[in-house]
Amino acid sequence: MILRPFELADAKEVQRLAGDRAVADTTLKIPHPYEDGMAEKWIATHRAKFDAGMSAIFAVVRRGPMELVGAISLEIEKRYDRAELGYWMGRPYWGLGYCTEAGRAMVAFGFTDLGLNRIHASHFVRNPASGRVMEKLGMKREGLFRQHVKKWDRYEDLVLYGILGRDWRIDRERRRRA
Ligand SMILES: CC(C)(COP(=O)(O)OP(=O)(O)OC[C@H]1O[C@@H](n2cnc3c(N)ncnc32)[C@H](O)[C@@H]1OP(=O)(O)O)[C@@H](O)C(=O)NCCC(=O)NCCS
Repeated sequence: MILRPFELADAKEVQRLAGDRAVADTTLKIPHPYEDGMAEKWIATHRAKFDAGMSAIFAVVRRGPMELVGAISLEIEKRYDRAELGYWMGRPYWGLGYCTEAGRAMVAFGFTDLGLNRIHASHFVRNPASGRVMEKLGMKREGLFRQHVKKWDRYEDLVLYGILGRDWRIDRERRRRA
């Protein structure tokens, strides 16, 4: 698996994968139905947002015959040296460890290249697979926000996870020595 910036040429595949209702169902930002032109518009914003230090959004691509698997992002709050991790993987690729692998790379990128102090993420209670990914990234469960958001006319409980750069570095040292 590699992470790389999105290209306009990815748009059709983004529309196909993110357009799956099951992918939109447990996210807050993916529109449904995912109409023509939406992916192009989204991809076109990435460069300027990265240059402004607002976000880093990468395509998750599997090797072999290169295939777009999904997307992973850090939404950066510069003044707090903090970012929110977000991701979606296309349904054909679920359960194969791609999100965990991409998440590990993204967390490392955040703490080393971006100099972040904290990375947080949240998932709907009814999306335990995402919570499991957060756990595998070494994030700690920090709380439950009851009915914090509304998705398709339904209030959703959010589970909040976070990891500090300090703890991530201690863990990395431990892994290196093991
Ligand atoms: C959440 C999502 C990104 C996970 O991607 P993925 O590539 O399948 O994740 P991974 O394979 O790296 O890890 C998934 C883990 O969840 C576990 N899992 C799957 N379904 C589960 C369930 N119902 N309950 C508990 N754990 C579950 C898997 O067993 C695996 O853990 P393991 O390695 O310990 O066995 C993917 O399902 C997705 O894109 N969903 C739609 C969009 C979304 O929800 N994005 C996140 C918003 S917070």
